[in-house]
Amino acid sequence: MDWVECVQSFGGILEPESTAHPHCPEEQAHLFHTFGGGETEIETLWLLWALLRITKPQLVLETGTFRGVGTFALASALKENGRGKLISLEMDKDKAIKAYNVLKGNDITDFFEIINQNSLEFIEQLDTQIFKFDFAFFDSKNNIRPTEFKKLYDKGGLTNLVAFHDTSRLRERTFIIESEPQDIYVAELDKIEKMYCRGGLDFSLAKGLRVMQLNKNINPAFHYNNYTTHASND
Ligand SMILES: C[S@@+](CC[C@H](N)C(=O)[O-])C[C@H]1O[C@@H](n2cnc3c(N)ncnc32)[C@H](O)[C@@H]1O
Repeated sequence: MDWVECVQSFGGILEPESTAHPHCPEEQAHLFHTFGGGETEIETLWLLWALLRITKPQLVLETGTFRGVGTFALASALKENGRGKLISLEMDKDKAIKAYNVLKGNDITDFFEIINQNSLEFIEQLDTQIFKFDFAFFDSKNNIRPTEFKKLYDKGGLTNLVAFHDTSRLRERTFIIESEPQDIYVAELDKIEKMYCRGGLDFSLAKGLRVMQLNKNINPAFHYNNYTTHASND
């Protein structure tokens, strides 16, 4: 069984992204599928799954576990790789416990941890001399994801690929959250890509996804206290 079939075996029901979440026609959300409005589209998760399969990361971060669908997909890729650990952060205790209870006890157990903590607090306390993430999927709240990135990057906690969800430049046509202005989120990501990355991909359909590769030459992960890792931008 692949990870989608596993989620279905736990009772997950796929629906078109267009019925789960408001979208404008240009986002072509009817061509995407999801287990619910709060979850990541499975097409997006398959892309992240493939990126983990091709980059073989040792340590992966997800901010925002919710019901654990993204966690399942990412941990499944690590299980296929035969190595690596996903740390998924969820600040809501009930959600963290429920997701853990669904995911535990199957063959991905060794490849993930769900930590019930606010992402910014976790990042503040993280010892990046020991823990560096080769891949990070920022999926908490739009308005704090650039800050999560910046704090982790500045302390040398990110080595290679970063992905940001909900990046559609058309989102505000159909789905306005006043506390999470989309234009500011997207502008912050444009800045991150320009300042810290050697390149990026902007997937505009459905909720949208940005994937960026960090520029190793200026990355504090490789320049703090002569610390070196085997992670590479190749
Ligand atoms: C969009 S959902 C995550 C979806 C999940 N990544 C997936 O792919 O299915 C966002 C989740 O982030 C959590 N969250 C929001 N802000 C957070 C923070 N600062 N730290 C940790 N979790 C946070 C919310 O409680 C919510 O469950």
